[in-house]
Amino acid sequence: MKPVGIIGTGHYLPERIMTNTDWEKIVDTNDDWITTRTGIKKRHFAADHQATSDLVVEAAQKAINNAGIDKSEIDIVLIATISPDNPYPSTGNWVQKKLGLRTVPSFDISAGCSGFIYGLITAMSYIQSGMAKYVLVAGAEVMSRVINWQDRSTCVLFGDGAGAAVLGPVPEGKGILSTYWGSDGSLGDLLIQPAGGSAMPASAETVKENKHTVHMAGNTIFKHAVLKMQESALKALEKAGLNGNDVDLFIPHQANLRIIESTIKRANIPMEKTFINIEETANISAATIPIALDQAFKAQRIKEGDLVLLAAFGAGFTWAAAAIRF
Ligand code: ACO
Repeated sequence: MKPVGIIGTGHYLPERIMTNTDWEKIVDTNDDWITTRTGIKKRHFAADHQATSDLVVEAAQKAINNAGIDKSEIDIVLIATISPDNPYPSTGNWVQKKLGLRTVPSFDISAGCSGFIYGLITAMSYIQSGMAKYVLVAGAEVMSRVINWQDRSTCVLFGDGAGAAVLGPVPEGKGILSTYWGSDGSLGDLLIQPAGGSAMPASAETVKENKHTVHMAGNTIFKHAVLKMQESALKALEKAGLNGNDVDLFIPHQANLRIIESTIKRANIPMEKTFINIEETANISAATIPIALDQAFKAQRIKEGDLVLLAAFGAGFTWAAAAIRF
């Protein structure tokens, strides 16, 4: 198989910042509870006029520039999101239009917080099969529009933003070395937006009952998340013939600091080699990993030749990991 890797990254966080103290004015919560239970201090929220595709456009332009290619060279657009502009057309379609790309295939991937890594694996397959040379993969969310602003157990956990990457051919020995992914739909009810689809169409009743928002069994998700983050990280390393000592930077999904701490302990990766941004961004679902990846490059925490491990879990229940040599 020809090596495929990430050749450019970019991210965008909206200007508006919502702190834990801001949430104290809306629901019965406090900074201490949120910080201790999750590690979150603040999150960015999109402006009223911004939809998910608008956030992607900002991040994607940077990623395309960073990759040193022209936007006309993009062959496929994949957008991982659980807060799309519309049920259809896809956010990918809007991005294709707003970026002024050729009329290339564009579509969305719904895999919760694992969505970006699902996108990487999908893009890699298209490139290796010869169907594409360059694929734009983004993770983007406007979670502030799909949370229940009255439910303190979920509303404080999420933020908005977008991260993007351009995938393409890379020299031998570099790129995505191994991947691991999976899903278990029997756990689908644990994290779900119940209404607004064919199972429960929108009605005055569903709106009144806030069924178009995030519904989450936090405690149960927590237990599955710990197991699947560990499993994904370890399996991806094992498939590449590596272990925790080989990792130069671990970028885990940022849903809860305690889940990350438990994962790195099991994978034998020290905290100094783990990228954490949950304090500043909260959980941005599919956008979390690509935003963190771009921030890690900007902070010069990834050097030429480094091994970077990505791992995530999310609604579905889904999980995914990738070991990448830069
Ligand atoms: N402020 C203050 N108190 C709160 C808040 C809040 N914001 N939210 C809940 N509480 C209260 C609860 O009501 C409960 O009170 P009680 O004991 O009087 O009933 C108490 O705090 C404890 O609640 P728990 O739910 O047991 O708290 P827990 O320690 O489990 O933390 C949390 C909750 C942070 C949600 C945790 O379970 C978690 O992180 N779960 C995983 C979440 C996750 O990973 N989601 C994945 C999203 S990924 C995707 O695909 C979108």
